[in-house]
Amino acid sequence: MQVHEKRLDIKHNVATLKKQGKTIGFVPTMGALHQGHLALVERAIQENDVAVVSIFVNPTQFNNSEDLVNYPRTLEADVELLSKLSEDIIVFAPSPVEVYGDHMNSISYDFGGIENEMEGKYRPGHFDGVGTVLKHFFTIVSPTRAYFGEKDFQQLQIVKKLVEIEKMTVEIIGCPIFREASGLALSSRNKRLNKDQLQASPLIYKVLKRVHKDFGIKNVIELNEWVSQQFENNKELELEYFEIAKVSDLRSITQKQNDTKYRAFIAVFAGKIRLIDNIALN
Ligand code: PAF
Repeated sequence: MQVHEKRLDIKHNVATLKKQGKTIGFVPTMGALHQGHLALVERAIQENDVAVVSIFVNPTQFNNSEDLVNYPRTLEADVELLSKLSEDIIVFAPSPVEVYGDHMNSISYDFGGIENEMEGKYRPGHFDGVGTVLKHFFTIVSPTRAYFGEKDFQQLQIVKKLVEIEKMTVEIIGCPIFREASGLALSSRNKRLNKDQLQASPLIYKVLKRVHKDFGIKNVIELNEWVSQQFENNKELELEYFEIAKVSDLRSITQKQNDTKYRAFIAVFAGKIRLIDNIALN
């Protein structure tokens, strides 16, 4: 399997493949790969001639330096996992300088307001960091399609806006959330959960499923209150936010309207580890 560290190497490699008429399916990741990532890579393999996976813990999207330091880095194991899927996958694992040069700055984006909701509100600068690194990666890899999990549903909407703003031709494809048997959405951060936190964390999806079930019969205020109550006095989990938002602009609502698509979004702390999840409501 080819593992590139230099942007010029992968750029040339991909350019040659594209000249041969090959399509490129790209899966950007921050490593610590799990089944959710592998499902994205499998889809990229199925739908394209060549799959490229980037493994890069992007410093500019972390608003919390402790989270950045503690983010799991398991490059060797990641490459091993990918090689079991296919030896033909091309991996790009650059250093920060290789991606950003000498100035590791984020571009300040206007994504039409969705960058200020939920994750954007609680993680200032996060989406500028995501947008900037993906702009670099899309320029280097020049993919035909790029694959993102719906666990980061807000990120998926941001990426769709990014390619519009930057006038890039890559097709952005959202893929369903991958879950543990317990219902916990797969995340690289799950690796940091201790036994008690792991045992407590299925509550997050349980709550979302109940909200989905009750969405037709309860109003939004009642649902918000009910969710808050589920986390009150919980020793392991602390609710950061729960919001029901319109899919179109991700603005949170207090009242439902007809003919509008909604989703419920949640962020929870298990100790210092932040877990997010979401569910379609109608
Ligand atoms: O979802 C992630 O893992 C990251 O936000 C991404 C898309 C790889 C950008 O660093």
